[in-house]
Amino acid sequence: MCGIFGIIGKKNCVQDLLKGISKLEYRGYDSAGLSIPSTKEMITIKNKGKVSGLQEKVESFNLFKDDAYSTGIIHTRWATHGVPSEANSHPHNGNQNIISVVHNGIIENYRSLKSSLISEGYSFNSETDSEVLAVLIEKFYEKGQLLKAVNKALKEVDGAYAIAVVSNEDINQLVVARKKSPLVIGKGKDRIFIASDPLPIIEYTKDIFYMKDGYVASIIGDQVKVYDENENPIEIKYEHCSMSPQSIAKDGYDHFMLKEIYEQPEAIESAIAGRVFKDQTEITLEDDILNKDLVNRINRIVIIGCGTAWHAGLIGRNIFERFTKLPVQVDYASDFRYRDPIIDENTLVIAISQSGETADTLGALALANENKTPTLAIVNAVGSTMTREANEVIYTRAGPEIGVASTKAFSAQVLVLYLVAMHIGTIRGILDVDERKRRIKNILKLPSSIRETFKKCSNIKKIASIFKDATNTLFLGRGTGYPVALEGALKLKEISYIHAEGYHAAELKHGPLALVDENMPVVVLALKGRRYSKIINNIEEVKARGGKIIAIVSEGDKEMKNITSDIIEVSEDVGILNSILVAIPMQLLSYYVAVVRGCDVDQPRNLAKSVTVE
Ligand code: G6P
Repeated sequence: MCGIFGIIGKKNCVQDLLKGISKLEYRGYDSAGLSIPSTKEMITIKNKGKVSGLQEKVESFNLFKDDAYSTGIIHTRWATHGVPSEANSHPHNGNQNIISVVHNGIIENYRSLKSSLISEGYSFNSETDSEVLAVLIEKFYEKGQLLKAVNKALKEVDGAYAIAVVSNEDINQLVVARKKSPLVIGKGKDRIFIASDPLPIIEYTKDIFYMKDGYVASIIGDQVKVYDENENPIEIKYEHCSMSPQSIAKDGYDHFMLKEIYEQPEAIESAIAGRVFKDQTEITLEDDILNKDLVNRINRIVIIGCGTAWHAGLIGRNIFERFTKLPVQVDYASDFRYRDPIIDENTLVIAISQSGETADTLGALALANENKTPTLAIVNAVGSTMTREANEVIYTRAGPEIGVASTKAFSAQVLVLYLVAMHIGTIRGILDVDERKRRIKNILKLPSSIRETFKKCSNIKKIASIFKDATNTLFLGRGTGYPVALEGALKLKEISYIHAEGYHAAELKHGPLALVDENMPVVVLALKGRRYSKIINNIEEVKARGGKIIAIVSEGDKEMKNITSDIIEVSEDVGILNSILVAIPMQLLSYYVAVVRGCDVDQPRNLAKSVTVE
């Protein structure tokens, strides 16, 4: 939800600002803008559309050479208040054009602030909540006192924010603040960088400081001063960020999504590394995570997440029930946080998140923390807020995921849930040694099974053409195939804009069967297993109504060949981890359908990868 980037130094920063913000476009991409304070004026340029459009616009100004343009802020927007338009894009400036602000988050009391500012004679140019920040800060501003003005303004606002503020009367200063929206500071050799996450910074420096809630920082030249919510100075501890710039490049792939799909064997290998060993029968979780006392104490597990992470949680439920014999509940974080969930010190709350920044998951985690409930976060983004809020953290280690549609992060989430379930099941004496040996073998086999599955996916491009003109489609599955069907439908709808519903196959005749006709492609997950014969029945029900079946089946399934010719085989042999294998053809299918329909795969309309607002 909106990306922020800023630079302060001694050399021209304009091109680097544009380059940097393009790395945050996954956070939103409906408009973009930048501000460069200069002694003459505040230079603010905005554009509706992607960063590339802003880049073109900026090129017509003569801004790339002059070292006077050495401080600047830039923003890429995902609209919350006000349509995507030039007026609503950031930065927003105060009435005198002295102050310029970029903001990520939502100012919840902006209406009342706006009307009292209007009654004081201030005017507004946009429909956004963010503009009140610019007007307020400028109202309090006195030359040389930018930090003071920001502090005063923030006292008036409720809600969530990561902001960066510049003034053309203090051009060597940048003030940033954070509350519930992420913000980091990077210390380069001769420049300081601020950003929503480390991605645009890592090519300049690996020294990253993660701002905490309530922190405000003032950067003057190369001096960074950070204060807590009571304006007390904080000692800055930079952390080393190991991410490489290469890991956020497309590497010859047409899209990040395709690259990330094909990175899944490596993502799984890295999630396994140091945790699973072929000659051991126990899972080694780092840092004594989920120690024996805790594992023996818990009597329930609650899994929370949003979107794809929630689907991973649903698969996790089946795995936990089987491995731990504990009752498991899976909740949308957004719903959990506003109910009165029954949790206590004997419940384990597991929050799953790729970004570690999803507002609803953070809110749900905070609720668990308030109830003194033990919390474990399964997170991909290193150093993200969730990793600091949860009692314990296990990283999925899938590497940066840029495509909005989650792929490798999903697989790594399922795998890590599997490891956690095995760990708990081992301590609680549910899994005997033989079973553990067998399951460890499956884990270690998974990367090569994924590679084998890729080889069998060569006909997916052709199958994708079936969906070119489809308007509706169903994804059906049973058991863990059900959440995978939900995930398949989500993938298809988010990047190809085809209405896709994931359904439990057994529920077909309780409603969705009415939708089936010859125009309706139906994707069925039909691996050999204890529910196979039931799934065949469901397939026959669809066929009898003229529906077009696309079946994802076990390697060498002859029976299915008599039913439909549109078959995708997976190299199925890793038990319940097959849920990862079957997700892969569905990811590829969505990808190729989106490509054949000419959709913007990595940046689908209306969506953003990191949802930092409720
Ligand atoms: C957005 C993303 C999804 C993601 C969901 C939860 O909707 O587009 O890919 O699954 O947020 O995000 P999280 O970062 O918490 O996993």
